[in-house]
Amino acid sequence: KEDEFVSDLLGKMTLTEKIGQLNQHTSHWEMTGPAPKNNESQYRLEQIKNGDVGSMLNVTGAEATRKTQQLAVENSRLGIPLLFAYDVIHGYQTMFPIPLAEASSWDPEIVKLSAQVAAKEASAAGLHWTFAPMMDVGRDARWGRVMEGCGEDPYLASVLSVARVEGFQGDNLSNTNTIAACAKHFAGYAFSEAGRDYNTVDIGSYTLHNIVLPPFKAVAEAGVATFMNSFNIINGRPATANPYLQRELLKGKWNYEGFVVSDWGSIEEIEIHGAAHDLKEASSLSINAGSDMDMESNGYIQYLKELVEEGKVDEKLIDDATKRILKIKYQLGLFDDPYQYANQEREQKEIYTKENREIARKVAHHSMVLLKNEGQLLPLSKSLKSIAIIGPLADSKDIPLGSWRAKAIKNSAVSLLEGLTNALPQTKINYAKGCNLTSGDRSFQAELSFNENDQSDFPEAIKVAKQSEVVIMAIGEDCFQTGEGRSQTDITLKGEQMELFKAIYQVNKNIVVVLMNGRPLAIPELSNMAPAILETWFAGSEAGNAIADILLGDYNPSGKLTISFPKSVGQCPIYYNHMNTGRPTSTNNVFWSHYTDSPNTPLYPFGYGLSYTTFSYGKATINSNELKKNESIEVKLSLSNTGSYEGEEIVQLYIQDPKAKYARPVKELKAFQKIKLKPGENTEVSFLLKSEDLGYYSPEGEFLIESGEYHIYIGENSQNVQQINISLLE
Ligand code: IFM
Repeated sequence: KEDEFVSDLLGKMTLTEKIGQLNQHTSHWEMTGPAPKNNESQYRLEQIKNGDVGSMLNVTGAEATRKTQQLAVENSRLGIPLLFAYDVIHGYQTMFPIPLAEASSWDPEIVKLSAQVAAKEASAAGLHWTFAPMMDVGRDARWGRVMEGCGEDPYLASVLSVARVEGFQGDNLSNTNTIAACAKHFAGYAFSEAGRDYNTVDIGSYTLHNIVLPPFKAVAEAGVATFMNSFNIINGRPATANPYLQRELLKGKWNYEGFVVSDWGSIEEIEIHGAAHDLKEASSLSINAGSDMDMESNGYIQYLKELVEEGKVDEKLIDDATKRILKIKYQLGLFDDPYQYANQEREQKEIYTKENREIARKVAHHSMVLLKNEGQLLPLSKSLKSIAIIGPLADSKDIPLGSWRAKAIKNSAVSLLEGLTNALPQTKINYAKGCNLTSGDRSFQAELSFNENDQSDFPEAIKVAKQSEVVIMAIGEDCFQTGEGRSQTDITLKGEQMELFKAIYQVNKNIVVVLMNGRPLAIPELSNMAPAILETWFAGSEAGNAIADILLGDYNPSGKLTISFPKSVGQCPIYYNHMNTGRPTSTNNVFWSHYTDSPNTPLYPFGYGLSYTTFSYGKATINSNELKKNESIEVKLSLSNTGSYEGEEIVQLYIQDPKAKYARPVKELKAFQKIKLKPGENTEVSFLLKSEDLGYYSPEGEFLIESGEYHIYIGENSQNVQQINISLLE
């Protein structure tokens, strides 16, 4: 029925009308990219009425989307409805933890739940389509957009991105509480050189196939509705104009049926990259390469007709792109009722509800990572008489909302100070800000959300620390130090934060550091000195309540890092699944792969995270040390909760192919399980490892499964593991 409807409609469309469907504009009042030319509202409204626009981004709200939809439906010749898109990255108005935080849950159900609520709120505000999930595997903490992804592992990014897609899309796109998702950025964007956003990418096709592409393939198979191009070049060709990525792989080998939208201006930027003479050629390259919709370059709408008439673009490609877009509109039910999402009553009732905030609190619990807990300082006793809450982030109701915050209400998060004050009515809370987040140089830090004019006040902070049994110190970074266009060369604690910590430490050593940040920070000294550190990321609307729940033991932290924390920025990019190199270990001289001023190892490795309880791993066993192709083996071990709190442990299974045709990483995550155990409880954990889990891609993209010896590693993080060897037979 869908094919019939779409083919029928296509048959009625003129070439100009088809090209109109391939054109996407932003609203003139909200920008998520550089201001476009021709941004006058009247011009845009006329274009919509003419049928020259297929989709709008950044128009939100039931009323605004309804009015804008009316322009298209009531004025254009065929009345084809618009598709309304928005960056709903970690919530619409109820803010969830940033995606990197949610990934620390290692819990697809948690991630799915968050996306479900985001979709429910966004669709109630008239939206049809989110530009999420971002599944760029990120290894470089300098890159501001690591906050938006799942971290450094392609397998985990695949599992969690599929969960996000399922959360956004549900099992039927026409349900009015789901929205279409978008797999972005295709591909290689996170490999921007030196972590500088939009910079050149130069990765080999081996890394492309084994690290970058797997999450995209996984969501394509899971039915993600759309893809978005990335800004970067791949092998010298901008991704937007890259036929290998889009035609050969995505729409060819992977048989993908959804559509591809460019990133903001990425068609226009092909010329700036130096890979096209002008916008017309860039448009021709992009449509030929398989980019179906033009976001804010105005290239398709200006030049595609001419290009078809000149024989430079085959009209069949325009037909194919139009069909793909119309199909998604059909699946969303827009041809049955173009206004079905623009429902003011739903908008009033379903957004930022108590229930949604409760879910955000639950997701935040799962997203936090306990990095250190010397002498079991945590959890804190609820009968403490006094607590000092110190630090530039302690009282912020805004920073925990994170960047890419969609329609979050400014200053609407529960601050740490509020969360703890509510949770500890009997305790004397002594608050002092102490210092600012930076030293006030705002030149490279547009839009920071805090007031840097405040003077630092160490004496006051020291006074309250002296008066209190325990100090909670909230430090880290501003939420707008991460996100798009927010790369940094310095990933330490900025401003006077470390000095403040040391000053407090002089007078009270019972310090619990609560970190808020959107990227790994290089904090070796802090990590050495502070007895307890809780990584809370930017935890969303319910941040303060969720942090209080953890500090007071109402929730036992269970998150584990999905991105390595470096000891210094000089180690970046640093990641667990690296190659061995030809000189990996210490020799008696200097000629091995190392730094002369720092160890190679990270401060905190991938997969690391503590709990208030302790887990003991039994010896892993295997039902056979040999397997043949197309067979599987079972790896088992017992896991016991040996501490005194109920808790969840994330058991991780890695493999290594030590002698392969192409050099393989020292470890690769292949499976994990999150297991909940009561104190004293014990269970058997079992993993089924299939022969294809041992495979990998050649630089040409051919999937290889090679016979020979493999190492299996099981453990609590990527460093602390036990090993079993197996053989894959011919
Ligand atoms: O979705 C984003 C993308 O990730 C970066 N550029 C702007 C797009 C639309 O807002």
